[in-house]
Amino acid sequence: MPTSRTVLVTGGNRGIGYAIAERMLADGHRVAVTSRSGSGPEGTLTVRAEMTDAASIDAAFTEIEAQLGPVEVVVANAGITKDTLLLRMTEEEFTSVIDTNLTGTFRVVKRAAKGLLKGRFGRVILISSVVGLYGGPGQINYSSSKAGLVGFARSLTRELGSRGITANVIAPGFIETDMTAALPEAQQQQYLGSIPAGRFGQVAEIAGAASFLAGDDAAYISGAVIPVDGGLGMGH
Ligand SMILES: NC(=O)c1ccc[n+]([C@@H]2O[C@H](COP(=O)([O-])OP(=O)(O)OC[C@H]3O[C@@H](n4cnc5c(N)ncnc54)[C@H](OP(=O)(O)O)[C@@H]3O)[C@@H](O)[C@H]2O)c1
Repeated sequence: MPTSRTVLVTGGNRGIGYAIAERMLADGHRVAVTSRSGSGPEGTLTVRAEMTDAASIDAAFTEIEAQLGPVEVVVANAGITKDTLLLRMTEEEFTSVIDTNLTGTFRVVKRAAKGLLKGRFGRVILISSVVGLYGGPGQINYSSSKAGLVGFARSLTRELGSRGITANVIAPGFIETDMTAALPEAQQQQYLGSIPAGRFGQVAEIAGAASFLAGDDAAYISGAVIPVDGGLGMGH
């Protein structure tokens, strides 16, 4: 059993976030999830938070701290896509994806940082995407936001690495969730053809990587980008 920690997973009411919350609970941690609607797995504390609103994130942390103690493991998972080709992409489609995926992560990690420093322990786990480093047509907004998380984790590692705090990125490939179900069938088949594993991934496979990064065995891993993509993005 790993040391029991207080874990926060953003966007833990469905998809990858829900699976990570389930796995963290099974690992013996105290788990809170943020949600805008619905709730996390049974046994987790669900708090309301909107990633584009720093005040709601602050209130969520205050509630978690009161009920479960200071957050020690932060999984920044909440994210959106608004796919369209560059020539059709509006500035709003670009900035709103950055605001949720990248600036939202900034808001969450910044709010968590004081507590992590005080406790001299922290695990920051950012859910990026294979598309961050591999690129994707129609995903200039999304891939920019996800590539930004790599610089984020590495700068955080350099700032806070000596204080018992690690920051790592998980780069999922094509994982079966609502997000990927929304992609056109032709695009899904195209991805499938280029995945060396010959299949799409499962949410539990991302949760396994997050569990490892939160656990005692990962104490000396920081600034890493861990692909969980069946080989799709290798070399990037
Ligand atoms: N699925 C994949 O193949 C894949 C691949 C690579 C990376 N990822 C990344 O993995 C993460 C989870 O993806 P998923 O497939 O599980 O997506 P999903 O099923 O669409 O779930 C997204 C989660 O993010 C939350 N969220 C979105 N915008 C938010 C906002 N402004 N404020 C608060 N919460 C917000 C959603 O809350 P609501 O339920 O309220 O909308 C939901 O809980 C995302 O960062 C995604 O980019 C996914």
